Amino acid sequence: MKHKVLIGFMGCGKSTVSKLLAKELGWQLIDTDAQIEEEQGTTISRMFADRGEAWFRILESELIERLSKEKEPMVISTGGGLPMQPQNKELLEQLGDVIYLQVQPETVLKRLEKDTTRPLLQGEDKEQKVKELLAYRGPIYEDVADYTIVTDELTPKEIVRKILDEVVE
Ligand code: S3P
Repeated sequence: MKHKVLIGFMGCGKSTVSKLLAKELGWQLIDTDAQIEEEQGTTISRMFADRGEAWFRILESELIERLSKEKEPMVISTGGGLPMQPQNKELLEQLGDVIYLQVQPETVLKRLEKDTTRPLLQGEDKEQKVKELLAYRGPIYEDVADYTIVTDELTPKEIVRKILDEVVE
C-alpha cells in the first residue's frame, strides 16, 4: 500500500484532513512541518528568521527522502511550499499517492486572517501575497498531484470521504 500524501496551499486543510484520514485508516500520521519543528527543537518562523527559507527547504527535501524509505503506509501532510522545489517532484512521486487539496484565495484569506505562524504571509497586503503565490503555485501543485480535490465547499469529513472513495483502493 502506498503512502497517502497531501499537498496544497497554506490553509487548504491538510492538517485537519490528514488527522481524520490517518484515524480512519488506522495509519501513522506525519506532518512535515511538525516533524521538522520537533527535530530542530524550534518553530518554522524562527527557522526562517535565523537560518533562512533555503535552509528549511533542504530539511523538507531530506525528510521526504527519508520517508520514501518507510515501508509501513502512512498519511503524510506536507508544508505548502514543499512541492515547489523541483527535486521534490520526483521524491513526492516515489513517496506515494499525491492528493492536492485545491482552495481559492478567498478561503485561505478567511481561514488565515489572524494567523501569525506562516512567515511568508506576514506583513503588509496578505491578500496580494496569497493571490500571487497561489497563482504561481497552482499549476505546480496540479502537475505533481495524482488526484485533485476542490475543497472550498467541502467539510474535512467530506474531503476524507472523497479520498477514501477515490484514492484508497
Ligand atoms: C509554507 C507553508 C507552511 C510551512 C512554511 C512555508 C509555504 O506549511 O511549511 O510556513 O511555503 O507555503 P502549511 O502549508 O502547513 O501552512
